[in-house]
Amino acid sequence: MKKKFQIVCLCMFVFALLVAGCGGSKAKKELIVGTEPAFAPFEFQKENSKDFVGFDIDLIQAIAKQMGYEKCTIQGMGFDALIPALDAKNIDVAIAGMTITDERAKKVNFSKPYYKSGLAIVVNKDNNAINDIADLKGKKIAVQIGTTGAMEAEKIAGAKITSFNTNGEACLELKNKAVDAVIGDLPVEAYFLQQGGKDFAKIVGKTLTSEDYGIAVAKSNTALAKDVDKALDTLKQNGEYDKLYKKWFGELPKK
Ligand code: ARG
Repeated sequence: MKKKFQIVCLCMFVFALLVAGCGGSKAKKELIVGTEPAFAPFEFQKENSKDFVGFDIDLIQAIAKQMGYEKCTIQGMGFDALIPALDAKNIDVAIAGMTITDERAKKVNFSKPYYKSGLAIVVNKDNNAINDIADLKGKKIAVQIGTTGAMEAEKIAGAKITSFNTNGEACLELKNKAVDAVIGDLPVEAYFLQQGGKDFAKIVGKTLTSEDYGIAVAKSNTALAKDVDKALDTLKQNGEYDKLYKKWFGELPKK
């Protein structure tokens, strides 16, 4: 009788351990990441490939690993769909070269800054009339929808703005001479020129803004936001962040 009791106790103990174990690993199983994947070199798909690559992708994968997640799944969507997807809990985090703005910070938790950026003006190579932001008054400007580039364009007196789902589509509109300029993130426009865009386009004028990219987490999920920051700090300290930066930008971040 005593023996039976001991066995029952043992079974209950093992069962409790299993439940606890499962609970623990379930919470850390999969991190679901949203991005808008037409933003090279931060997030993009190589020709004939469905895999997402880029600095943001490498960084969030390293962060997920550092946080103890077994799996990190990337989901592509429109840039303006990312914050609603966080709200709806369809994704856990968004990494998309997203600038930390006061407006957005009201809706989401941002990580600490992970990349210094700014906006650039792109015009056709043969355009000698537009050399700076002052020359854009009343001009036709293409932007990516919901971006800081779009917000900057809206401040220009009399500008006629057309919004596109991706930066690439905005640049195509420039190529077709349907617009006079594109306003978009400098590192992305520079990469675009370097990848062949310089055949028809160039960057002009000063960098318009100074912006910081941050990783966004739902407003309600402060615990995850803290963990993301902790992981980012670790990767900055242990040299992993620098390694990824060098891989994608060919140099170390400016201190
Ligand atoms: N940095 C700009 C912003 O936050 C543009 C970001 C666009 N990102 C993208 N993956 N398409 O508004």
